[in-house]
Amino acid sequence: MAVGVFDSGLGGLTVLSALEARLPEVPFVYFGDNAHAPYGVRDADDIYDLTCAAVARIWEEGCDLVILACNTASAAALRRMQETWVPRDKRVLGVFVPLIEALTERQWGDNTSPREVAVKHVALFATPATVRSRAFQRELAFRAIGVDVEAQACGGVVDAIEDGDMILAEALVRSHVDALKRKMPEPDAAVLGCTHYPLVEDVFRAALGPQIKVFSQPSLVADSLADYLARRPDMLGQGTARKFLTTGDPRRVSDRATQFLRRPIRFEAA
Ligand code: DGL
Repeated sequence: MAVGVFDSGLGGLTVLSALEARLPEVPFVYFGDNAHAPYGVRDADDIYDLTCAAVARIWEEGCDLVILACNTASAAALRRMQETWVPRDKRVLGVFVPLIEALTERQWGDNTSPREVAVKHVALFATPATVRSRAFQRELAFRAIGVDVEAQACGGVVDAIEDGDMILAEALVRSHVDALKRKMPEPDAAVLGCTHYPLVEDVFRAALGPQIKVFSQPSLVADSLADYLARRPDMLGQGTARKFLTTGDPRRVSDRATQFLRRPIRFEAA
């Protein structure tokens, strides 16, 4: 039954919470590569190697399907993993496509040619590696035409959240929103393209203002996974145990996770 959920650190917990609420019967195995976070400042080869090592470890827990609840890994490593590394009987899915399908108001799996969509000016907030990869613009171009994307690499935000320094994280979010608005004064939509950012979503919303529609991934990813599993129940693995694994210090990571999710979470060493 088990499904794996991977992130470089704590951000994927925002996705995990939505998955657990949407699919309460599924035991999820969460893996945080906290010892190597943040991924956003690493190069693509490094992100690929770290993500493959983590996914291989999650497979050992009886998961055949792993969700990369990490935009940076989805942007920098997923395509290469799918093309060259994932065995036939396993699947690794990312978090970009559900987001872009919501933004372009497409049904899950609608592969018709790109067309004009309601949003015209999109602000993308993501890690430096995600912005550099241009994966968001590439996936968007498969589905929509005439959309102007302005990307803001939000340096420092993931580090501050991983360190539990929310005052710094909030100050950085405000300054990144200001920087984006200088480049694109009136976006009609904003995408939180990093799974750590829902932890400071209210700060993004306040800084952006009420007229900008904010797209945040957790519920979008949960809906698309529910849809996927309804079509592919065979991808539920044999594992039965819910687990939280980390490459970091389990005590420290458990404390932060408990603080973020407001319920007791106990990580064990991966
Ligand atoms: N939560 C990851 C993401 O969605 C953070 C990446 C990082 O470690 O920099 O991109």
